Amino acid sequence: MTDLAFPTDFLWGAATAAHQIEGNNVNSDWWEREHRPGGAIQEPSGDAADSLHRYPEDIRLMSELGLTSYRFSIEWARIEPAKGRFSRAAALHYRRMIDLCRQHGLEPVVTLHHFTNPQWVAAEGGWRNPAVVEYFQRYVEYLLPTLDGVTWVCTINEPNMLAMAHDSQGATLDASSQPDPDPVVTENVIAAHHKARALLHRVPGIRVGWSIAGQAYHAVPGHEEAMAAYRYPREDVFLEAARDDDYIGVQAYLRTFIDDNGPVPVPEDAATTQMGWEYFPPALENATRHAWKLTDGTPVLVTENGIATADDSRRIDYTYDALSGLHKAMEDGICVQGYLHWSALDNYEWGSFAPTFGLIAWDPVTFERTPKPGAFWLGEVARTGRLLRPTVGAARSSLA
Ligand code: BGC
Repeated sequence: MTDLAFPTDFLWGAATAAHQIEGNNVNSDWWEREHRPGGAIQEPSGDAADSLHRYPEDIRLMSELGLTSYRFSIEWARIEPAKGRFSRAAALHYRRMIDLCRQHGLEPVVTLHHFTNPQWVAAEGGWRNPAVVEYFQRYVEYLLPTLDGVTWVCTINEPNMLAMAHDSQGATLDASSQPDPDPVVTENVIAAHHKARALLHRVPGIRVGWSIAGQAYHAVPGHEEAMAAYRYPREDVFLEAARDDDYIGVQAYLRTFIDDNGPVPVPEDAATTQMGWEYFPPALENATRHAWKLTDGTPVLVTENGIATADDSRRIDYTYDALSGLHKAMEDGICVQGYLHWSALDNYEWGSFAPTFGLIAWDPVTFERTPKPGAFWLGEVARTGRLLRPTVGAARSSLA
C-alpha cells in the first residue's frame, strides 16, 4: 500500500493548555479547587511540566522533531489576576512564545481560554454570570496587540465541556462524563465567542474559530432520535454557532453509544486507554464529518486528537488509524487544514498526572525532556507529508 499523502501546506503540530503544563497557575479557579480542603481532586498541578520557564526548550524540541505548528493557550488568570488589573509582563511572556514559535518555523495556534478562569471570575459565578461575556471581551481586547500578526486564534476551548462541567464542586472535565449542559453557560459562551470574534477580526489576517469536543456519538440501533436529542445541546448547538467562523476546531478521542437512557457504559471486553475510554481511532473521522456538515462546510483544523497510553506503539497505531480516517474525509472533499496532536507533553490531566497523552515525557525532579517514539514518528510524517507506518524502533533510529 502506498503512503497516504497530505497537502504540502497542511499544519502538523501538537497542542497543550497553560494550566496543564505551565505550573503554579495560582490565580486560577482550578488551583483553588485543587487546594480546597476536603476537595475531590486527586492531586494538585503544582509545577506541572514547568513550561512557564521551559517553553523555549519545548518549542525548540517540537521544531527539531519536524513539526510545523504549536497550539498553546494564554492564561486569563495570569493576564488579569485581579479584576481589571492586567499584567503587561504576562502579555509579553506570551508574545515571546509567539515570536519564538515563528523563529523556529512553528505556526502558533493560540487559544484564549482553555477551561480555567481567574479566581475572581469564578467568585462572581463563572460562566453562569452574564457579566462574564463582557469580562471576556475586555480580556480579549487587552490581548489584541499581543496577537498582532497571529493567524490562528481559538477563542474558547471546548465550550461544550464548559457547559457540561459547570458544577465547579464536582463535575470533571473528562470527555466521557456527560452531565446535562447548563443552558445559561451555553448562551454565555456563544455570546462571548461571537463578540470575541468580532473584536479579533480587527487584527489583519487573523483566522478565528473555537474547538468543540466531538464525542463520535453512535445511536444504539433503534435509538436514533434519542441520540440526536442527546447530542444537540452537547455538541450541535456549538457547531451551529461556528457557521460564520474562519475555521472549526475538531477534537476527538472516543465514541459514545446512546440509547433512550443516555450513554451506554463501555463494554467490559472493549479495548480501553489509560482514561478508561474505548480505544476508537475512527472518532476523528466521524467528528470531522459531523463538524463539516453542521457548520455548512467551515474549514476544519484538528486542534486535538491523541491517546493516553504508556505504550508508544499504541500511540502510533492510534494516530495512524485516526489520520487514515481523516485522509478519507479529505478525499471526500472535506477541507482539513491541519492536525494538532494532543499532547506535546505529558501533562496535568485535570486532577492527575497519571494519564500520559504526551509526545514528550519529562522528569518530575529535573524536568528534563525526553521525546517518545511517537514524537519521532509524527515528526517524520510532518517532514514528508506522508502517513508512514514505521515500527517504533525504526522511527527512533532513523532520526537518532
Ligand atoms: C481537553 C484537554 C484534555 C484532553 C484529554 C480535551 O477535552 O481540551 O484539556 O487534557 O481532552 O482529556
